[in-house]
Amino acid sequence: MRLREMNLADMDAIMRIEQRVHAHPWTRGNFTDALKSDCICKVYEADGEMLGYVVLMPAVDEVQLLNISIAAGHQRKGLGRKLLEETMKIARGLNMRRILLEVRPSNGAALGLYRAAGFSQIGLRRGYYPSEDNRREDAVVMECEL
Ligand SMILES: CC(C)(COP(=O)(O)OP(=O)(O)OC[C@H]1O[C@@H](n2cnc3c(N)ncnc32)[C@H](O)[C@@H]1OP(=O)(O)O)[C@@H](O)C(=O)NCCC(=O)NCCS
Repeated sequence: MRLREMNLADMDAIMRIEQRVHAHPWTRGNFTDALKSDCICKVYEADGEMLGYVVLMPAVDEVQLLNISIAAGHQRKGLGRKLLEETMKIARGLNMRRILLEVRPSNGAALGLYRAAGFSQIGLRRGYYPSEDNRREDAVVMECEL
Protein backbone atom coordinates (compact mmCIF):
# COMPACT_ATOMS: atom_id res chain seq x y z
CA MET A 1 0.00 0.00 0.00
CA ARG A 2 1.25 3.46 -0.72
CA LEU A 3 0.16 7.05 -0.36
CA ARG A 4 0.69 9.33 -3.34
CA GLU A 5 -0.34 12.76 -4.57
CA MET A 6 -3.92 12.96 -5.88
CA ASN A 7 -4.30 14.29 -9.43
CA LEU A 8 -7.04 15.10 -11.94
CA ALA A 9 -6.78 11.63 -13.52
CA ASP A 10 -8.01 10.18 -10.19
CA MET A 11 -11.35 12.00 -10.29
CA ASP A 12 -13.45 9.19 -11.81
CA ALA A 13 -12.24 6.61 -9.29
CA ILE A 14 -12.61 9.09 -6.43
CA MET A 15 -16.17 9.98 -7.41
CA ARG A 16 -17.12 6.28 -7.58
CA ILE A 17 -15.88 5.80 -4.00
CA GLU A 18 -17.19 9.14 -2.71
CA GLN A 19 -20.72 8.59 -3.99
CA ARG A 20 -20.88 5.10 -2.55
CA VAL A 21 -19.55 5.78 0.96
CA HIS A 22 -21.01 9.21 1.82
CA ALA A 23 -24.67 10.05 2.29
CA HIS A 24 -23.70 13.63 1.37
CA PRO A 25 -20.78 13.21 -1.04
CA TRP A 26 -18.38 15.90 -2.17
CA THR A 27 -18.77 16.94 -5.79
CA ARG A 28 -16.06 16.60 -8.43
CA GLY A 29 -15.71 20.38 -8.14
CA ASN A 30 -15.00 20.11 -4.41
CA PHE A 31 -12.07 17.80 -5.18
CA THR A 32 -10.72 19.82 -8.11
CA ASP A 33 -10.95 23.01 -5.99
CA ALA A 34 -9.00 21.23 -3.25
CA LEU A 35 -6.35 20.21 -5.81
CA LYS A 36 -6.02 23.82 -7.00
CA SER A 37 -5.75 25.15 -3.43
CA ASP A 38 -3.12 24.72 -0.74
CA CYS A 39 -4.78 21.50 0.42
CA ILE A 40 -2.79 18.31 0.78
CA CYS A 41 -4.62 15.68 -1.30
CA LYS A 42 -3.42 12.07 -1.19
CA VAL A 43 -4.60 8.80 -2.67
CA TYR A 44 -4.10 5.51 -0.87
CA GLU A 45 -3.63 2.59 -3.25
CA ALA A 46 -2.40 -0.96 -3.59
CA ASP A 47 -1.52 -2.72 -6.86
CA GLY A 48 -2.97 0.21 -8.81
CA GLU A 49 -6.34 -0.03 -7.05
CA MET A 50 -7.58 3.00 -5.14
CA LEU A 51 -8.35 2.05 -1.53
CA GLY A 52 -9.13 5.53 -0.26
CA TYR A 53 -8.02 9.14 -0.09
CA VAL A 54 -7.55 12.03 2.26
CA VAL A 55 -7.80 15.82 1.93
CA LEU A 56 -6.16 18.13 4.48
CA MET A 57 -6.11 21.90 4.72
CA PRO A 58 -3.11 23.34 6.57
CA ALA A 59 -3.44 26.75 8.22
CA VAL A 60 -0.42 28.19 10.07
CA ASP A 61 0.27 25.51 12.70
CA GLU A 62 -2.87 23.40 12.48
CA VAL A 63 -4.44 21.24 9.86
CA GLN A 64 -8.10 20.60 9.12
CA LEU A 65 -9.02 17.08 8.05
CA LEU A 66 -11.62 17.74 5.34
CA ASN A 67 -12.19 14.28 3.91
CA ILE A 68 -10.99 10.77 4.68
CA SER A 69 -12.64 7.89 2.89
CA ILE A 70 -12.02 4.19 2.39
CA ALA A 71 -13.65 2.35 -0.54
CA ALA A 72 -16.74 0.41 0.53
CA GLY A 73 -15.27 -3.01 -0.27
CA HIS A 74 -12.16 -2.30 1.80
CA GLN A 75 -13.70 -0.92 4.98
CA ARG A 76 -13.27 -2.53 8.42
CA LYS A 77 -9.88 -3.98 7.59
CA GLY A 78 -7.81 -1.42 9.47
CA LEU A 79 -7.12 0.74 6.39
CA GLY A 80 -8.89 3.83 7.74
CA ARG A 81 -6.75 3.62 10.86
CA LYS A 82 -3.56 3.28 8.75
CA LEU A 83 -4.55 6.14 6.46
CA LEU A 84 -5.23 8.37 9.47
CA GLU A 85 -1.86 7.42 10.99
CA GLU A 86 -0.12 8.34 7.70
CA THR A 87 -2.06 11.60 7.67
CA MET A 88 -0.87 12.42 11.18
CA LYS A 89 2.72 11.68 10.14
CA ILE A 90 2.39 14.10 7.23
CA ALA A 91 1.01 16.79 9.53
CA ARG A 92 3.80 16.24 12.07
CA GLY A 93 6.34 16.46 9.25
CA LEU A 94 4.94 19.90 8.42
CA ASN A 95 5.36 20.95 12.08
CA MET A 96 1.61 21.19 12.59
CA ARG A 97 0.52 21.42 16.23
CA ARG A 98 -2.87 19.77 15.96
CA ILE A 99 -5.44 18.26 13.61
CA LEU A 100 -9.03 19.50 13.70
CA LEU A 101 -12.09 18.00 12.05
CA GLU A 102 -15.86 18.07 11.98
CA VAL A 103 -17.95 14.91 11.91
CA ARG A 104 -21.65 14.08 11.95
CA PRO A 105 -22.82 12.59 15.27
CA SER A 106 -24.60 9.93 13.15
CA ASN A 107 -21.27 8.78 11.62
CA GLY A 108 -20.44 6.07 14.15
CA ALA A 109 -17.64 4.58 12.01
CA ALA A 110 -15.76 7.88 11.72
CA LEU A 111 -16.34 8.78 15.39
CA GLY A 112 -14.97 5.36 16.39
CA LEU A 113 -11.96 5.78 14.12
CA TYR A 114 -11.14 9.27 15.42
CA ARG A 115 -11.59 8.37 19.10
CA ALA A 116 -9.38 5.30 18.68
CA ALA A 117 -6.70 7.54 17.11
CA GLY A 118 -6.73 9.92 20.10
CA PHE A 119 -9.11 12.65 18.93
CA SER A 120 -11.42 14.21 21.49
CA GLN A 121 -14.47 16.42 21.17
CA ILE A 122 -13.86 20.14 21.70
CA GLY A 123 -17.15 21.55 20.47
CA LEU A 124 -20.45 21.15 18.70
CA ARG A 125 -21.67 23.25 15.76
CA ARG A 126 -25.46 23.21 15.84
CA GLY A 127 -27.21 22.53 12.51
CA TYR A 128 -23.92 22.63 10.61
CA TYR A 129 -24.63 19.95 8.00
CA PRO A 130 -27.51 19.57 5.55
CA SER A 131 -29.47 16.43 6.32
CA GLU A 132 -32.47 14.43 5.12
CA ASP A 133 -35.85 16.15 4.56
CA ASN A 134 -34.33 19.65 4.61
CA ARG A 135 -33.33 19.18 8.23
CA ARG A 136 -29.89 19.98 9.60
CA GLU A 137 -27.43 17.87 11.54
CA ASP A 138 -24.94 19.07 14.15
CA ALA A 139 -21.19 18.76 13.66
CA VAL A 140 -19.00 17.33 16.40
CA VAL A 141 -15.72 19.29 16.40
CA MET A 142 -12.74 17.14 17.34
CA GLU A 143 -9.02 17.74 17.77
CA CYS A 144 -5.87 15.73 18.24
CA GLU A 145 -2.61 17.24 19.46
CA LEU A 146 0.31 16.07 17.34
C1 LIG B 1 -14.64 6.17 8.58
C2 LIG B 1 -13.86 5.22 7.67
C3 LIG B 1 -12.75 6.03 6.96
C4 LIG B 1 -13.21 4.12 8.53
O1 LIG B 1 -12.38 3.34 7.68
P1 LIG B 1 -12.18 1.76 7.92
O2 LIG B 1 -11.05 1.32 7.08
O3 LIG B 1 -13.48 1.05 7.72
O4 LIG B 1 -11.83 1.72 9.47
P2 LIG B 1 -10.85 0.69 10.22
O5 LIG B 1 -11.14 -0.69 9.74
O6 LIG B 1 -9.45 1.19 10.12
O7 LIG B 1 -11.39 0.84 11.71
C5 LIG B 1 -10.74 1.68 12.65
C6 LIG B 1 -11.68 1.94 13.80
O8 LIG B 1 -12.75 2.76 13.34
C7 LIG B 1 -13.97 2.38 14.01
N1 LIG B 1 -14.92 1.88 13.01
C8 LIG B 1 -14.69 1.69 11.70
N2 LIG B 1 -15.81 1.29 11.08
C9 LIG B 1 -16.77 1.25 12.03
C10 LIG B 1 -18.16 0.96 12.01
N3 LIG B 1 -18.78 0.60 10.88
N4 LIG B 1 -18.84 1.07 13.16
C11 LIG B 1 -18.25 1.43 14.31
N5 LIG B 1 -16.91 1.72 14.40
C12 LIG B 1 -16.21 1.64 13.27
C13 LIG B 1 -13.59 1.31 15.00
O9 LIG B 1 -13.23 1.96 16.21
C14 LIG B 1 -12.37 0.72 14.34
O10 LIG B 1 -11.53 0.05 15.24
P3 LIG B 1 -11.76 -1.52 15.52
O11 LIG B 1 -11.78 -2.19 14.18
O12 LIG B 1 -10.59 -1.88 16.36
O13 LIG B 1 -13.10 -1.62 16.20
C15 LIG B 1 -14.79 4.51 6.65
O14 LIG B 1 -15.88 3.93 7.36
C16 LIG B 1 -15.34 5.43 5.58
O15 LIG B 1 -14.68 5.67 4.56
N6 LIG B 1 -16.56 5.94 5.82
C17 LIG B 1 -17.22 6.80 4.83
C18 LIG B 1 -16.54 8.13 4.73
C19 LIG B 1 -16.57 8.88 6.03
O16 LIG B 1 -17.56 8.89 6.74
N7 LIG B 1 -15.42 9.56 6.32
C20 LIG B 1 -15.30 10.34 7.54
C21 LIG B 1 -15.93 11.66 7.44
S1 LIG B 1 -15.16 12.65 6.16
